[in-house]
Amino acid sequence: MIQKSLVLIKPDGVERGLIGEIIKRFEQRGLKIVGMKMVWVDKDFAKEHYSEHVNKPFFNELLTMITEGPIVAIALEGRNAIKVVRKIVGSTRPDEALPGTIRGDFAHSLIEGRNLVHASANESDAEKELRLWFKEDELKEYERSDEKHVIGKR
Ligand code: RTP
Ligand code: MG
Repeated sequence: MIQKSLVLIKPDGVERGLIGEIIKRFEQRGLKIVGMKMVWVDKDFAKEHYSEHVNKPFFNELLTMITEGPIVAIALEGRNAIKVVRKIVGSTRPDEALPGTIRGDFAHSLIEGRNLVHASANESDAEKELRLWFKEDELKEYERSDEKHVIGKR
């Protein structure tokens, strides 16, 4: 199934100069970038994005972290993109993330929720999150020259 997923390079990823390194990993895997922008969100917007965590003990810390600097928001498309993207990102806790994943290669502990990236967890989250972060005309349709090899027939 061809899916779209939302990835956010969180403020720690941007401030550490890892934007290119992180994007490269999705791009080289054959995932298509269909939307991308830099945004600095406020707490109201962040609350909407992380509404599922409103009652968690780390919620306030999470809001502070995610609003402390600019974020790069990326919409990715590919076959089973939601699962594939989560694999590339690695476990939530960097101390549990496997080497070879983004979190496993560039972080080792979860300080104030810092784990470099966000990735949609499932189809309904992906749909909701993409609608929150991108206007319809900010998502582009185009062909990558390697689609025959990395996506196959739709
Ligand atoms: P994300 O939503 O950012 O892709 O991460 P995830 O699914 O792997 O993790 P989730 O359980 O949805 O948690 C959302 C984000 O909250 C922060 N967090 N902090 N201090 C803590 O114990 C704690 N636990 C989670 C992380 O930034 C996590 O990505
Ligand atoms: Mg999550």
